[in-house]
Amino acid sequence: MKTIAPYIRTSKHSQTLLINQLSLERIKSGDKVFKFGFGQSPFPVPEKIRQALANSAHRKEYMSVQGHPPLREAIASFHNSLENKNLSSGQIIVGAGSKILIYCLLAAFECAEVLLPAPSWVSYAPQARLAGHSVSWLETSFDDNWKIKPEQLDSFCNSRTDNNIPLILVFNYPSNPTGQTYSAQELQALALIMRKHNIIVIVDEIYSLLSFAKDNSTLDQFYPEASILTSGLSKWCGAGGWRLGFTHIPEQFGQKYFQAVLGVASETYSCAPSPIQMGATLAYEDIQSAKIFLGKQIKIFNEISRYCTQNLRQAGVNVHEAQGGFYLFPEFKQFRDKLKARGISTSEDLTNALMNDRGVALLPGSAFGMTDESLTVRLAFVDFDGAQILNNENPLPNLSNIRQGIEEICNWLHEL
Ligand SMILES: Cc1ncc(COP(=O)(O)O)c(C=O)c1O
Repeated sequence: MKTIAPYIRTSKHSQTLLINQLSLERIKSGDKVFKFGFGQSPFPVPEKIRQALANSAHRKEYMSVQGHPPLREAIASFHNSLENKNLSSGQIIVGAGSKILIYCLLAAFECAEVLLPAPSWVSYAPQARLAGHSVSWLETSFDDNWKIKPEQLDSFCNSRTDNNIPLILVFNYPSNPTGQTYSAQELQALALIMRKHNIIVIVDEIYSLLSFAKDNSTLDQFYPEASILTSGLSKWCGAGGWRLGFTHIPEQFGQKYFQAVLGVASETYSCAPSPIQMGATLAYEDIQSAKIFLGKQIKIFNEISRYCTQNLRQAGVNVHEAQGGFYLFPEFKQFRDKLKARGISTSEDLTNALMNDRGVALLPGSAFGMTDESLTVRLAFVDFDGAQILNNENPLPNLSNIRQGIEEICNWLHEL
């Protein structure tokens, strides 16, 4: 057979795979692993919603590409009521998770430049490249709470050589991997620059309902005409594996773009699974139960974030408390010399050493677009039994894996 190797896309999954491989080897040999690597909600899908899914198992027909109309209505009412939004069901497209929808939004452009903050979620850059677009980065820093600044965005836009190619910023808050979110003032200042340069923004709010910041402003308040929203059930409803997400495209984008996105959707996933759409309809319709469920989750995540942050800070690590979601983004720059003496100079060396020495699984910052030398890691604080903790007034005593894992990191640093 003729060799096809030169024609195959290179996979960029090596760093995450490596950590998984090391975790598995450790578990196989009977060692404990503290699972701070994989970010999935530890909370169960509420019983009533599971029941709605079970009752819909017979729904075997394809649904429309755009999504079941009552589900789209329920999604719009839910977010309009809980987040003061102005969504209209006719502008919503439902998909098999928001991830494939982000891809569809990108692939609906023949040609675009995709701008990403560094760090940002692992899949944006590969998706942009799969869609044939170029990728540019805006570096952020610990001192700026890992957030992009208006003047930085402005100067990036001013330095572009071809202003005819659409510029798409993928903007995510609360952020995976940093846990940080933007205030109204920050969003307003960014919106001015976005408008000035006609930036199209894919606003990934998959964690917005798990925000514990006091200020829950969103970009669409300040830049409604070009904020394309993506969100879904995965995080707030503990239903990542259900694969149910949606996008809302502002009417101002016009029918041509909307139809192009629907076209990519129809040529890739066809429709979100029909029984899942029925279960999701109930999840979005029962706003009161969702409010109670969200309140409990937010309290628990906020407490865990505080606990982890305080302990890591005491050990000398640069880390901000999360403002939503379930991630922290610690930076180990102050340990650079000591780490170097141990042969550790990159984020990947650091995560490998913490796994090999202490069984702590973390992801290196380089998997999120940071430079190899940034000595940053993403820590997902979800290694606990969400079902058990949900009805407990005081969750911290039940968090032994998280406590121990953080202790292992701190002790390891102490002994450097
Ligand atoms: C920042 C971010 N965006 C999007 C997604 C995709 O979510 P889903 O496809 O499950 O809706 C995830 C999942 O981990 C995420 O962390």
